[in-house]
Formats: sequence, C-alpha cells, structure tokens
Amino acid sequence: MNKADSVIIKKDIENLAEIFSKYKSHFEGKCFLITGAGGFLGKYMVLLLKHLNDKVLSKPATAILLDNYVTGYNSNIASDENITFIKHNVIEPFSTDKHIDYIIHAAGIASPVYYTRFPIETMDVGTLGTRHMLELAREKKVKSFLFTSSSEVYGDPDNKFVPTPETYNGNVSIIGPRACYDESKRFGETMCVTFFKTYNIPVKIVRPFNVYGPGIRQDDYRVLPNYIEHALRHEALPVHGDGKNTRAFCYINDSIEMIFKLLFSDANGESFNIGNPNEEKSVLDLAKLVAELMPFKVEIAYTEPPLAVYAKSDPKRRCPDISKLQSVIDFQPKYNLRTGIQRTIQWYQEEYNIKLEEHNIKLQ
Ligand SMILES: NC(=O)c1ccc[n+]([C@@H]2O[C@H](COP(=O)([O-])OP(=O)(O)OC[C@H]3O[C@@H](n4cnc5c(N)ncnc54)[C@H](O)[C@@H]3O)[C@@H](O)[C@H]2O)c1
Repeated sequence: MNKADSVIIKKDIENLAEIFSKYKSHFEGKCFLITGAGGFLGKYMVLLLKHLNDKVLSKPATAILLDNYVTGYNSNIASDENITFIKHNVIEPFSTDKHIDYIIHAAGIASPVYYTRFPIETMDVGTLGTRHMLELAREKKVKSFLFTSSSEVYGDPDNKFVPTPETYNGNVSIIGPRACYDESKRFGETMCVTFFKTYNIPVKIVRPFNVYGPGIRQDDYRVLPNYIEHALRHEALPVHGDGKNTRAFCYINDSIEMIFKLLFSDANGESFNIGNPNEEKSVLDLAKLVAELMPFKVEIAYTEPPLAVYAKSDPKRRCPDISKLQSVIDFQPKYNLRTGIQRTIQWYQEEYNIKLEEHNIKLQ
C-alpha cells in the first residue's frame, strides 16, 4: 500500500474537494507554485489539487512543487502530467518560463527539534526564501501570494492577549532559543507587507496555530505526534515540566480550508490567524485525551524538557482569535480535537500496520 492510499487521508481529501468544488473557477487551468510541497501541509495541498483534477475540474490545474527535503519526505510528492516536482532549495532564486497564477510559500522548518538542529537554514528559508518567492510573484504578476508565517510571531503572549488577535505585536525573545524561527517569520511578514505596499503584490499571510493530523512526519517531535509515537511504542507519554502550557489544536483539513479560501480572497497585505480557538488544551490534558483514545493502556510521565526550546522559552499559552479571518472568509472549524486525534491515530495505525506487516507483527 502506498502512503497516499491511506484510507483516512483519502477521506480527508474527499471532504476538502467537496468544499472546493464550489471554487472550480479558481482552480481550472490555473498554475500553482507550492514551496515545502513535501511537508505536512504541502502534501494535503498537492493531494487536493490531484483529486480536483481527477474528479472535479473540466480543465486541470497545474502545479510546480518545490522542496529540498531538509525535513520533507520524498514519498510525499505526488507528481503526474500536470504536477511537476523540482528539488530546489528556496534560499536560491527560482526561475521558470511557465506562467504562475498562485504562489503558496509553505517551505519552512517548523518543528522546534528540527529548527534547533538547522537554525541557519531556518532563518534563511523564512527570510531569503520569502524574498525570492516575492520577487517571483512580482515577475509573474500572480493573482495571489500566500506566506505561511506562524503563531510563533506572538512569542510568549501576555495572558491579557489570549485568545490572541492579529493586532497583538508579540512578546518574542530576539536572541532566545526560538528566535531563529520566530524572528525569521516576523521578518518574512514584514517583507510580504512591504512588497504589497511597494509593488502591490497581492500577498496574504497566515499564522497557523498548532496544526496536526494524518501525514505529519512521524518523527516530527511536535507534541501531538510525539505522544502518539510514544503510545504506539507502548512508552509513557512525555509531559514536559508541569504540563500546564496550553496549545490550541487545529485539524489539518480545517487549516487547508482556511489557507485556500484566503488565497482566493481579496484580503491583500494582511495577516490572519488560522487555528481552532475552541480547542485550547494544556499539554497534560492533551496527554490524557491521547491516552484515553488509544486502544490499549498508556501511562503518562512528567519529564524534564529535552531542549532549551521546550524549557523556560516555551510559550505558556497559545490560542487564536479568528474573528478577523471569519470577517473575510466563510469558515467554522469542522473537526473537534477528539475527532481529529481519532483520525490521526487511525492514520498512524495504518502506517504502522504497513511497517509491522513487513515484520509479521500486528499492533495489539
Ligand atoms: N504545522 C503547523 O502547525 C505550523 C504552525 C505554524 C507555522 N507553520 C508553517 O507552515 C509551513 C508548513 O508547515 P508544515 O507543518 O507542513 O511543515 P513541514 O516541516 O512538514 O514542511 C515544510 C517543508 O518545507 C521544506 N523546506 C524547508 N526548508 C526549505 C528550503 N530552504 N527549500 C525548499 N524546501 C524547504 C521541508 O523539507 C518540508 O518538506 C511552514 O512554513 C511552517 O513554518 C506550520
């Protein structure tokens, strides 16, 4: 079985295609350039385009996909006659003869474990990479450009600003262990808005809050995949510190819906939170929910944070205010945390069954 054949991912893509069947004119005959196409969000974007081409559109969309696999998986890239993958590091300029209608700049090094390992590459993709994509957008006179920034631009927000609106300027350490990621996203946003003001490039900026779901790299180390990984190995779920820090978890389909709807909107030169404000949970409560939803008994263990990014510098609360987004696009979160985790565990089980079958072992 191919990873793209995952039953749960197939269902997710069908659900997304149903939503976007009303947006056919935005896809038909259009060319999308997607950076970071081998990553978690990129994979869903590409599978959605493929599905729309196969089942919905009368004139296919085309796509140019870029990734250098610094953290992406080769097998995530689904190329065909309309969809072309090019291995490319976006810190170098990219040129093509093709006309491009939309650019989604999703390349980045999002997991704290990986940006701790690749801090220079992390700064470069958020700054140089964004600059090159903006230049390309200018040259190609694109209809729309979307930059995936991050909720990390808010740093460790004051409680008074949680749920956090886009107007909050953030509380970010300039030289702390998270700065290579946070500050490069902040500067990336500054460039996007400056290109909008100077050259009228139709930019949109999204600030995702803790997106999770099937297809995430299994050794991604972000909190939810990390818990599920431990559970499937029958190891205790590692809760850092006192487990009180919160995150608001957003299922991948909800985040992909927000991204494409914003891409097709007229909200140029603006930043938007994307996330699920209904699902702010402490990491301890998240561990309890994962333990409850696993098909076998799982322990929870308090551990010392393994890296500086998870120690004092770990933001205490994260929860988006999405009212600005909802004033621009029609959106309500469709997946609560319980459903989303069940779907994610189901996908992990599919993946593990693939691996375990090879060794003639079945999950208990
Ligand atoms: N998933 C989330 O919860 C979340 C939250 C906030 C922000 N974001 C941002 O959204 C984007 C997508 O996130 P994701 O979860 O899919 O991350 P991901 O790590 O799964 O995917 C990112 C992809 O970008 C590629 N990449 C990195 N540097 C590159 C470079 N220089 N050139 C070409 N490709 C490069 C990686 O190889 C990877 O395939 C990222 O920019 C991330 O910072 C994600």
